[in-house]
Amino acid sequence: ENIGTVVYEDSNSGSKAVAKEIAELIQVKASQKQPCILGLATGSSPKGLYAELVRLHKEEGLSFKNVISFNLDEYYPMEPDSVNSYVRFMNELLFNHVDILPENCHIPDGTLDKEEIADYCDAYESKIEALGGIDLQILGIGGNGHIGFNESGSLQNSKTRLVALDHITRVAASSDFLGLNNTPRTAITLGVKKIMEAQRVILMAWGEGKSNIIKQSVEGQVTNLVPASFLQEHDNVTFVLDKESSSKL
Ligand code: GLP
Repeated sequence: ENIGTVVYEDSNSGSKAVAKEIAELIQVKASQKQPCILGLATGSSPKGLYAELVRLHKEEGLSFKNVISFNLDEYYPMEPDSVNSYVRFMNELLFNHVDILPENCHIPDGTLDKEEIADYCDAYESKIEALGGIDLQILGIGGNGHIGFNESGSLQNSKTRLVALDHITRVAASSDFLGLNNTPRTAITLGVKKIMEAQRVILMAWGEGKSNIIKQSVEGQVTNLVPASFLQEHDNVTFVLDKESSSKL
């Protein structure tokens, strides 16, 4: 019930509005000589947002020098230069085209040995905490209500961790990986707890295909079967939608 929704004509205008909010936050923080801590997402939903941020950098001089980013997730195992890695996605869609410092870009490491993962995840969270937490978290939503790779069943206080991907999530990703057999079974994801601790959360969803899960997340019960429904308990969250994704509200 807490979830504010804003409906745009299309994903393009919604993405531009989110980019504008991010740009303003970056500039306010810069004027205060503060870093701007952004939680970033992958998937198709934020592509328009990143394109607009690149445009704001190139055409309007928006600087990312004070931005420190933490991506939500990465497949495991995953090499950074692999076509489907989220490292590659972020580099190609955003980082390579703006003046963000490479050392300020954090993405979970898909190349770790299994035994290293738990300590790595704790350290990922500690880095966020040392910076005072995430100022603004960008989210997409899986068709099953996952946020990051927090699948159905994830707890509200879940930590950053290695997770098994749902079959339905793997099927959705399988065309990128040229078949289900090549699709990773696991991923490292920021936990729900750190997402909920962000000062502000913006979830973007476009298209008819997301309309059912958007209804469940916004109007349904808060349940770990639909991790996005936890956002009903966040006090500064906006779902940025288009006509189609909002059509069942
Ligand atoms: C993947 C990502 C999620 C993303 C979801 C939805 O599972 N790990 O963070 O929200 O896909 O993807 P899309 O935006 O392409 O619908």
